[in-house]
Parts: sequence; structure tokens; C-alpha cells
Amino acid sequence: MNWLKDLTGKIKFNRPLSAHTTFRIGGPAKVFFEPQDINDLRRLLINAKKENIRVLVIGAGSNLLVGDKGVRGIVVKLTAPAFQNVVYAHGSLRTGAGLLLSKLVKSAVDYNLGGCEFLAGIPGTVGGALVMNAGITQKGKGQKLKVRAISDIVSEVTVMDYSGNAKVFKKKDIRFAYRSSSLYNYIVLDARLRLRKKNKKEIKATLKKHLASRRQCQDYSYPNAGCVFKNPQGHSGGRLIDLCGLKGKSFGDACISYRHANFILNKGKARAKDVLRLIAFVRRKVKSRFGVTLEPEIKIWQN
Ligand code: FAD
Ligand code: EPU
Repeated sequence: MNWLKDLTGKIKFNRPLSAHTTFRIGGPAKVFFEPQDINDLRRLLINAKKENIRVLVIGAGSNLLVGDKGVRGIVVKLTAPAFQNVVYAHGSLRTGAGLLLSKLVKSAVDYNLGGCEFLAGIPGTVGGALVMNAGITQKGKGQKLKVRAISDIVSEVTVMDYSGNAKVFKKKDIRFAYRSSSLYNYIVLDARLRLRKKNKKEIKATLKKHLASRRQCQDYSYPNAGCVFKNPQGHSGGRLIDLCGLKGKSFGDACISYRHANFILNKGKARAKDVLRLIAFVRRKVKSRFGVTLEPEIKIWQN
């Protein structure tokens, strides 16, 4: 990897990924790279491909469980200013993939733009949110459940493939589903979001409502990665785990939250192996009691 010295971004070796995940779990990345700009990223990808070295992208690490042995390849994080910009033009907001959703929401307030308030409180980046198709489930009229996701407001996404070629996808060319998208095969660089002019007071009131409803039922007491499992069709994962009586169940310092059973907490020194044991245990119990197979929502990186 002699070519690493030709890159202009920040390079660190054996960087513990526990510092880059909201779980605060994860062994080291052999190489941790923060490219300075798109050209720097391209140079990295071309060289890594030539040497058959695995490249992984991390956002805010809020939906990620990294194995205790870490990652052998190169982990890329889009922290440089080139990936954090946010501009309003021609009726839409263009935002870099490395931008935190909290900052995106704040910019939308500054520009008097409504439509992305539902993303408030999701601790990810724009890139991670697009790949995961992050969103919420709300009770609508007549208690009917309504799903809202970032795919509802995106109009265009710029990506780079792992050979270093950039391209722009219109929304119609991207497959979005519940907590997944076809963007998974690319590095997301930036996105155009369709928002609408709205009164600032109204935007702030909507934000307050969303944040309050999270505080009411989600767990902020210890590091976690949000819901560990996807909701199976027609069910709430958290409710099924709760009905199995698993709140408080733990392996090592990995523990099922008493507040929300789909949250696994790191109560101190939890290791990935503890979380994985707990995941396997929960899946077995829910399958045997309800015949339902829980699928993890979190991404798991293991060597
Ligand atoms: P990461 O966790 O860093 O990565 C997730 C995946 O995306 C990985 O596969 C990674 O390789 C990939 N990725 C990240 N950035 C890029 C990029 N630029 N290009 C290509 N691939 C990329 N999620 C919801 O949907 N709704 C919620 O309400 C919600 N609430 C949460 C509450 C809490 C307290 C927590 C801790 C998490 C919650 N989450 C929620 C989960 C998580 O915040 C979202 O999935 C978020 O979108 C992940 O973004 P990230 O930047 O942290 O991605
Ligand atoms: N419930 C229980 N016990 C629990 C947890 C929940 O009985 O321990 C019940 C609740 O009382 C409620 C139902 O299950 O009747 C649904 O719970 P909640 O409203 O908390 O929503 P959820 O389906 O668990 C989903 C998303 C969240 C998102 C919220 C709010 C998934 C897997 N989860 O949670 O997203 O924030 O809706 O919209 O889709 C995430 O993806 O990481 C995440 C946190």
C-alpha cells in the first residue's frame, strides 16, 4: 500500500472503530481514511481495487455492529468539508453524504424548508440514511400506521462505484424498500432533497413533536444502535421481544433495554460477541414462541 502516501486526506492505522460507532463497540480498522475530496477518494478506490483490498464506508456508525477483531481492509469516513456542504438551489436542498441528519434538519429550519422534520433524532449521516432508507412509522388517522422514509423526499443521488466512477441516479433508478436500498453497492457522495417552503414556527413545532415522541419510548441511557431488528411484516419487533419476557436479558454487558425491547444497550464493556449471542438468543425465542423470524436491521461487519 505504498500509494497511501500519495493521498491527501487523513490516514490512521489500527484505529479502534469503537470510537466511530454509537454502540461504542468494535475492534480496529487496519486503515482508517478520511478523504479530502472526491478525487482523493477516487485515487484510493482505484488503488485498493488493483490490490484487491476491501473498502468499507462508515457514516455515523449508528446502525453498525463491528466485530471485536475489527476490519482488515480500509474504512472510509466522509468527514472532510467537501462531503459536508449543504446548499439550497432551484427549490431543493443539496447535501453532502457525510452531513449529520441533525445538521441537515437545522439547515432546513434556517432555509424555512419543511418536509424532513421526521428525520430529527435519527443519529446518522445523509449517506447512511439513504443507504438504509432511514425513516419512522407514525400512527396516522384512525391509528393506521404510516411509514415515512428519506426516499419520500430524495430526488437525485450522486454516487461513486468501487472502481472510482461517479454517477448520478434519479430517484426512479434507485430501488428503495423498508430499511434498504440499491445504493448499498455504491459510496453515496451527495443528494438532492425535495423540500417545500414552510413557516419556521410550524417546522419547529413539528420537530418538537417528533423528538418528544422518541424521548417517550426510546432508550438513551447507554450506547446503542437503535432498533436491532427490522419490524417483521404486520408486527412490531420490540413488542414480540417484550412479550417473550426478554427485557433485561443480558450476555456480558450487552443487555436488552427495559424501555424498548428492540434496543440492545452496551452497559459498559460489551463486546460484539456478547451482542451477537443476544441477537441469536432473541431470534430463537421469538421464532419458537411466535413462529416469526426476526431479521437484523443493523449491519454487522466481521472479518
Ligand atoms: P452507519 O451506521 O455508519 O452505516 C450503515 C450502513 O450504511 C453501512 O452498511 C455503511 O457501510 C453504509 N453507509 C454509510 N454511509 C455511507 C455512504 N456515504 N455511502 C455508502 N454506504 C454508506 N434508523 C431509522 O431508520 N429510523 C429511526 O427512527 C432510527 N432511530 C435511531 C435511534 C437511535 C438512538 C439510534 C442509535 C439509531 C437509530 N436509527 C434509526 C438507526 C440509524 O441511525 C440509521 O439507520 C442511520 O440512517 C444510519 O446512518 P449512519 O450514517 O450512522 O450509517
Ligand atoms: N412495544 C412494546 N414493547 C417494547 C417496545 C415497543 O410493546 O419494548 C410496542 C409499543 O408500545 C408500540 C409498538 O410496539 O405499540 C411499536 O413500538 P414503537 O412505536 O416504539 O415503534 P417501533 O416499531 O418499535 C419504529 C422504528 C424506529 C422508529 C419508530 C418511530 C423499526 C424497526 N423501528 O419502531 O426506528 O424510530 O418506529 O417511528 O422500524 C430504528 O430503525 O433503529 C428505529 C429506532
